[in-house]
Amino acid sequence: MQAHTPTGRTAGPGENVPRAMARLSGADWWRGAVGYEVYVRSFQDTDGNGVGDLAGVTKRLAYLAALGIDVVWLTPFFASPGFDHGYDVSDYLAVDPMLGTLDDWEQLSATAKQLGLRLFVDIVPNHTSSHHDWFRQAVADPTGPFRDYYVWADPTADGGPPNNWVSHFGGPAWTMDPGGSGQYYCHLFLPEQPDLNWANPKVMEEFAVILRTWCERGADGFRIDVAHGLTKDPELRDNPQLREVHGGMHPMDVFASFQHVHDLHRHETAVLFRQWRDAVADLGAVLVGEMDTRNVDRFAEYVKDQNALHAAFVLQVGLSDWEPETTITTMLEYQTKSNGGAAWEVSNHDQSRAVSRYGGGELGLRRTLALTSLMGAFDGMLFIYQGEELGLFDAEVVGNAEDPMSARNGEGMWSRDVARGPMPWSTDPHRSFTSAPVAWLDTKPLPFELTADYQTDSPHSTWQRYRQLVGLRKRYPALWQSPFELISQGVGHVTIGRDDLRIVANLTDEPIAASELDGADIIFQSASDAVSVVEGVTLVAAEATVVGRIAAPLVAVDVS
Ligand code: GLC
Repeated sequence: MQAHTPTGRTAGPGENVPRAMARLSGADWWRGAVGYEVYVRSFQDTDGNGVGDLAGVTKRLAYLAALGIDVVWLTPFFASPGFDHGYDVSDYLAVDPMLGTLDDWEQLSATAKQLGLRLFVDIVPNHTSSHHDWFRQAVADPTGPFRDYYVWADPTADGGPPNNWVSHFGGPAWTMDPGGSGQYYCHLFLPEQPDLNWANPKVMEEFAVILRTWCERGADGFRIDVAHGLTKDPELRDNPQLREVHGGMHPMDVFASFQHVHDLHRHETAVLFRQWRDAVADLGAVLVGEMDTRNVDRFAEYVKDQNALHAAFVLQVGLSDWEPETTITTMLEYQTKSNGGAAWEVSNHDQSRAVSRYGGGELGLRRTLALTSLMGAFDGMLFIYQGEELGLFDAEVVGNAEDPMSARNGEGMWSRDVARGPMPWSTDPHRSFTSAPVAWLDTKPLPFELTADYQTDSPHSTWQRYRQLVGLRKRYPALWQSPFELISQGVGHVTIGRDDLRIVANLTDEPIAASELDGADIIFQSASDAVSVVEGVTLVAAEATVVGRIAAPLVAVDVS
C-alpha cells in the first residue's frame, strides 16, 4: 500500500505517516469513542461533479485515523431526489449515483477496517422521500397495504389541515393527498418528506431489514435521524401554542412557538427503541439517536438500559449559544441521569458552527475547544463535526442558497448552508475539494492557514490540539472508565475527578484558582496559556480547560 500523508497526498520522502491508534474493543467500546461527522456532499469530490462522494471519504480516511478518530458518521448517501440533500430517501438500500456505488461503499468499509475505524450510517426513519415506492403506492391505492405506512388524516370541517402542527421547514405539517382522496398526509419537514407511521408494525419490519442489510455490508452502527419524532399522538391533538406567529418569521422560530408534546418526544418512541435494539442486537450495531428532547427525564428514558438506544445526541447543550452557567448545569444533569448515553457535540450540519456561534475568531475557537475538552471528560461519546478540527467558522455562501429551509422561505433567511461548506484540503486555489469549476455549494475560499495540509504540517495548529484532545481518551482511559466525581461547581466553571485525573473547565471570562491542579502533571490544555502558577497559586485561564494528573494519594502505613 502506498504511503499517504494525513490529508491523502502521496507521502514524500521523509514525511511522517501517522498510524491509527489502537481500536477500542469489547461490547462497550462505544462509551469511550470519539466520532467524526462527515457531511459526505462537502467532504471530498473524486469524480469532478462538484459533490463529495463515498470514494472521497475513502481517500481521506487516513486523515481521520491520524486524528485518532474511532467512528465516522456518514450523512445519508442513499438514493434520493435531494430535496433535503439526502435526508429524503427514495431507496434505503441503494447508493445515490451522484455519491457513488455499492462498490464504493465496500471499498470504504474495507479501508475503514484496515485503519481501525468504524462506520455509522445515518438512517432516516421519521420520513421517506415522496419518491419512495412506499409513498407512491400509498397515494396510488388508498385501500392498499402501503397506505398505512404513512400518517393520513381527514381535513377539519372547514377543509383545513387536521391540526396546528407546523413543519420544521415552514408552513403546516400537512399537505393534501396528491392522489385526490381528500385526506392530508403529515410531514414534519418538507412536503416531499412524508412522515412514516410507526404505529404500523410493518414499518419496523421494513427498517429491521434495512438496518440488518447495512450491518451485513459492514456498518458498525447508526445515527438515527429525528429519533425523537418517530411516534405521533394517536388522536393527532393540537400542540399547545406558546406565542403568536406571523408571516416573515424564520421557520425555526415558528417551530419554537409551539410545545411539541404531540408530534415529538413521546413516550411511545421509547417503546419502539426496544424493537430497534432487538433488531440489531446479534449484530453488535450501536444506535445513536438525534435527540432534540429537552426534557432530561424523557431523554433518559430513550437511552436508559439494554432495551433502549445506546446513546443520543444532547442537542440541547451542543447547539446552544455560549451560556457557560446553563451549559455546565445542564451537562451535569444529563451526566447524572443518562447512564452514559449522552453523545456530545458542539456543531453539526444543521447549526451555525461553534466557532461562529460562540463569538467568532480566536475567542470563538478558544471557547469551542474549552467546551469540547470538557465534554471529553463526561460519560458518553464525543463527536467532532468535519472542519471543527481546523477551527472552521461559518462559510460565506456566494452562490445560491441550497438549504430548503431558507431557499423556500424567501431572501435573507438564516440557512444551514453556513455549516456545509466544502472541506479545505490543500493550499491550492480550489483547496482540492473538487476539480469542477464550482462546488455544489459555492462558498468563499478559506485562508490557507485553515487548510488540512497546512495544519497537519504545522506543529502548533488547531489540528494538532484536536489530535491531542481526541487521543486523550485512549492514553488515559480513566477519562471515560473511572467513576465521574464532581469535585466542585461554580458559576461557569467546574472541576471533575476521574481516578487520578483532574479536569478543570473554566468557561467564565476571568481566570480562576484551581488548587486541585497544584503539583499536577498537566496532560492537556485547551489553549497554550490555559494554566499558570502565579505566586504559588495554580490558575486556569478564562475560557479554557485543563486536564492534570495528580500524584497517587499517599497511603498511610501502619507501623505500630
Ligand atoms: C435532521 C437532519 C437534518 C434534516 C432533517 C430532516 O434534523 O440532521 O439535516 O434536514 O433531519 O431529515
